[in-house]
Amino acid sequence: MRLRSQLTLAFTGLLIVVLTVTGYLIYSLILDILVQDERRQLEETGELLAGFLTEQYGTTQDMQEFNQFLNEQELQLFLYDRNLDTVLFSTMPNSVVAGFFQENNFANTKETMWQLGNDRFVTSRILFSPDALGLELILLTPMTDLHAIQQNFFTRLFLIFLIGALLAIWLSYYLTNKLVTPLTLLQRQLKKIEKRQFDDVERIKATGEIKEVEQSVFEMANELQRYMSSQQVFFQNASHELKTPLMTIQGYAEGIKDGVFQGEERDKGLELMVDEVNRLKIIINEMILLAKLDTEKTYEPITLSGNALINGVMDRLLPMLNENDVEVKQQVEENILIYADEEKMLRALSNIVVNAIRHAESQIEIHAYTAHKKLVITVEDDGEGVAEDLIPHIFHRFIKGKSGESGLGLAIARAIIEQSDGKISVDRSAALGGAKFTITLPFVKGKREKHG
Ligand SMILES: Nc1ncnc2c1ncn2[C@@H]1O[C@H](COP(=O)(O)OP(=O)(O)O)[C@@H](O)[C@H]1O
Ligand SMILES: [Mg+2]
Repeated sequence: MRLRSQLTLAFTGLLIVVLTVTGYLIYSLILDILVQDERRQLEETGELLAGFLTEQYGTTQDMQEFNQFLNEQELQLFLYDRNLDTVLFSTMPNSVVAGFFQENNFANTKETMWQLGNDRFVTSRILFSPDALGLELILLTPMTDLHAIQQNFFTRLFLIFLIGALLAIWLSYYLTNKLVTPLTLLQRQLKKIEKRQFDDVERIKATGEIKEVEQSVFEMANELQRYMSSQQVFFQNASHELKTPLMTIQGYAEGIKDGVFQGEERDKGLELMVDEVNRLKIIINEMILLAKLDTEKTYEPITLSGNALINGVMDRLLPMLNENDVEVKQQVEENILIYADEEKMLRALSNIVVNAIRHAESQIEIHAYTAHKKLVITVEDDGEGVAEDLIPHIFHRFIKGKSGESGLGLAIARAIIEQSDGKISVDRSAALGGAKFTITLPFVKGKREKHG
């Protein structure tokens, strides 16, 4: 069933239940109220008549006038003598009076409902003063009259409810429509995304949670589009990167095979081929690592000592440092803890420090400290720095400068750092003038689990 029908149905159902319960309550209460009200009115009329009769009792002339008045009022009453237990006077025919007298106990003053045949009557009794006289005025109203009023009232109530219900259903339909339309439109946009027609995706007017969903869908579409185009660029770059060394190798291999390269040239060619094969190996290994970082959940973070981690990096790079004659200054705050996959974080930091060693003139500085509840690691060098136009893309795959190698080192570093909920950025080093890479990682509290 469509959401619109479901909502309207639910709303209408609820409305009907509420109206039925309310209607039933009012219908059952109204009779009690009517009976009470009738009794009060009878009492008032009775008091009035009793007062009149007490004053005028005895004068025939007035009694006649009084009788006429009673007939005009269509009042049903008895004048009852308690002492004699007889009806002295009634506005009703004798047979009816006899019937009443038979079916009801006139002496029981507690009885407020009287019976005649199948009909019931509301009664009200007023005792004349002085009490000793024992004269009582008893007024009656048939319940059928009250039932008629109740019925009439209920018919009106039903009509009002019906109109109210129709209005409410229309309102609910209007509101659900307003609610559901953005969803329908959103579904259309999702279809477009499914068909990868990203440029056709339109924004939708909505409010509240639906707006939030719409915003997420829009961002998701953008992200998907970015991802797909980056994938495309990745494949183009990858094939280009792999093709260049392969063509070099092919050129030399064919040359050597055909005897074009001989002697020294042949040796140089073989050396170049080995170099290119090594380069290919590095690129392919890095591509595999990147793919693994993207897809596999092999990230196993533990709590590491910052000092130990950075020392580990330096140990790995010692041969390279000696070769390049670069001095490294290390300033690592005591007891810094990092929550990361040890092997991968070593790899990420090494990639950055290797770049620094390669690009530095003679100096590198590595700092690690905590600031603003974050852990910060910076790697600076006194080299030429990162070219301005390269900065926005430097962490993308296969992006490299003039003397670059695979262009994957920083992409790998970023992937690993992001898996540790960290961030990496680059700018110019104020202290040394070269490049400055800044890594921020979440602050880790607690005891070390790993050697320090
Ligand atoms: N410390 C640095 N100083 C200057 N340029 C750098 C530095 N680190 C990285 N770069 C630039 O960023 C590019 C990308 O680095 P990277 O992803 O490690 O790839 P690769 O080192 O294989 O070229 C490098 O080619 C280089 O141009
Ligand atoms: Mg590199």
